[in-house]
Amino acid sequence: MLNTPSRLAALIVAAGLGIASGAAGAQGTVKIGLILPMTGQQASTGKQISAAARLYMQQKGDTVAGKKIELVIKDDGAVPDNTKRVAQELIVNDKVAFIAGFGVTPAALAAAPLATQAKVPQVVMAAGTSIITERSPYIVRTSFTLAQSSVIIADWAAKNGIRKVATLVSDYAPGADAQKSFGERFVKAGGQIVAELKIPLANPDFAPFLQRARDAQPDAIFVFVPSGQGGTFMKQFAERGLDKAGIKVIGPGDVTDDDLLPNMGDAVLGTVTAHLYSAAHPSNANKAFVEAFRKANNGLRPNFMAVGGYDGMHLIYEALRKTNGDTDGDKLIAAMKGMAWESPRGPISIDAETRDIIQNIYIRRVEKVGGELYNVEFATFNAVKDPVKEAARK
Ligand code: PHB
Repeated sequence: MLNTPSRLAALIVAAGLGIASGAAGAQGTVKIGLILPMTGQQASTGKQISAAARLYMQQKGDTVAGKKIELVIKDDGAVPDNTKRVAQELIVNDKVAFIAGFGVTPAALAAAPLATQAKVPQVVMAAGTSIITERSPYIVRTSFTLAQSSVIIADWAAKNGIRKVATLVSDYAPGADAQKSFGERFVKAGGQIVAELKIPLANPDFAPFLQRARDAQPDAIFVFVPSGQGGTFMKQFAERGLDKAGIKVIGPGDVTDDDLLPNMGDAVLGTVTAHLYSAAHPSNANKAFVEAFRKANNGLRPNFMAVGGYDGMHLIYEALRKTNGDTDGDKLIAAMKGMAWESPRGPISIDAETRDIIQNIYIRRVEKVGGELYNVEFATFNAVKDPVKEAARK
């Protein structure tokens, strides 16, 4: 096969990468390669993150520590073979100092060996499978892990009269993380899992799975679908009358994603999820962020992917400031470890040990605010680390 990791590694070494990226630094320009799904099923993630990255640069300027920052945006359509090819081109030809973005887990994993070989920091702004940060010492994450929200909604469900749950997740790595971390925690808290269902990731038809979930007579369905699919899920849930049958939807907040929520219809009212970000988060920093984002993007509401991108840009800018513009990968990663700041989502930091994000997780209920549907936060869990890594450490 042409694209095996070892062959790619050989190509990169042959291209004299280290020397080349040093040369780019000397010219005074630092390039950030943003690899995103701008087309296909995950395109809303590409749209949200690229808009947030542009907004960050518009607000903070395009110079850091005397270096001019240049954003190079590439579409991988969330197809890992494309991610690999594009990452290689960005590193070898464009001589980027960072690769960033990564709309889905398989894309983030595909780029990891390249980050390691080239010693180029890989800033994961979207993907949420726990294992990702362990695949390269050059990976830092500003998004989330599925387990962070899933264990918190498990505790909430057990404490709020939900006894029987059917779990229904997209059939790939983050779905498996969500299902496992929710299931283990919920059973430990005295709950019962009455069905465990996996739905194909591509072009899903939820109807047969909703029927099977309903047949198991749960109090609630725990659902994880990636950002972009929540609208279709909620529509089919209501069309099949599961809401009228008294079955609740719970889960991480991907299903009530702010990008799609305004058009989901009233069947979604009252849905309780746990997540890292709501456009209705009541801080001054978030109000300013939402207003500026909407203004720059034709009224578009930012979602949790947008804050992952905005914060990823902040991490890159501040790391460069700390290294005084030095683009050495090891120095940049050292600068990122332990960094803490206030995001539109609330206070966040980068775990110095794991390079993963530590953030608040909020429990939210869908309500109408000023006539529009929002996830309204009503409880906060402070400084949540990735529970999968925490469990492994014990
Ligand atoms: C992922 O592929 O890791 C992923 C994508 C979209 C989400 C969550 C996780 O909303």
